[in-house]
Amino acid sequence: MRVRRHPRFDRVYVIRDGRSQLATLNLVPGFRSYDEVVRRVSGREYRIWSPHRSKPAAAILRGIRTLPVSRGTKILYLGIASGTTASHFSDMVGWEGVIYGVEVAHRPMRDLLRVARVRKNIVPILGSARRPESYAHLVEEVDVLYADVAQPDQGRIVVENSEFYLKDGGHVILAVKASSVDVRLPPKEVYEGIREELRRGGLRPLELIDLGPFYPKHAIIAAKRS
Ligand SMILES: C[S@@+](CC[C@H](N)C(=O)[O-])C[C@H]1O[C@@H](n2cnc3c(N)ncnc32)[C@H](O)[C@@H]1O
Repeated sequence: MRVRRHPRFDRVYVIRDGRSQLATLNLVPGFRSYDEVVRRVSGREYRIWSPHRSKPAAAILRGIRTLPVSRGTKILYLGIASGTTASHFSDMVGWEGVIYGVEVAHRPMRDLLRVARVRKNIVPILGSARRPESYAHLVEEVDVLYADVAQPDQGRIVVENSEFYLKDGGHVILAVKASSVDVRLPPKEVYEGIREELRRGGLRPLELIDLGPFYPKHAIIAAKRS
């Protein structure tokens, strides 16, 4: 089994044992955040980051260039659910970084609390991303706004949260499920509509990555606040 750093993202690894798989270095060795596969190589513990379980992993395999998550990055995560993707971001930002995770549903929040008790760089926030002012006492200015709420008004949600919390020059990474916006429209039109909404909200779209075949009719849109 061989491990190397990912050529574009220094906190992401590629593990080769016949096939290549993405992985992150476990920030809390011995602790599993969900039912991820763990690999030990040269005394270090890596967690396989499956593109079938996490959209940013799929986006990396599909060639995304904009994923500015590294040691010390501060992230506001909308729709953190039980923390599957966030646990890999937690590995990447390390103890110097922080992930403020907003989730509206109680059930996934319960599972997230188990993860956040150990991964202390995740701050769980039970609340709605439609009300950014309601968590102003908990969240500081961030480098990255990651959103995966799968809601029809997610463009507006992202713009409003970016106005509250995203630093100038910060990045938005938005996961879009086309059918959650409009089932009747072709996905490309849905994505274009959201890009336009981001532009109007002062966010400059940088790239659009289609997540097929891992997530059919899903895309990730990266944008910058400038
Ligand atoms: C597709 S899942 C997120 C999966 C997660 N991002 C991951 O990769 O591990 C969407 C989540 O957004 C949450 N959500 C929906 N509307 C929301 C809102 N207004 N505020 C916060 N979370 C919301 C849902 O409860 C659900 O857990």
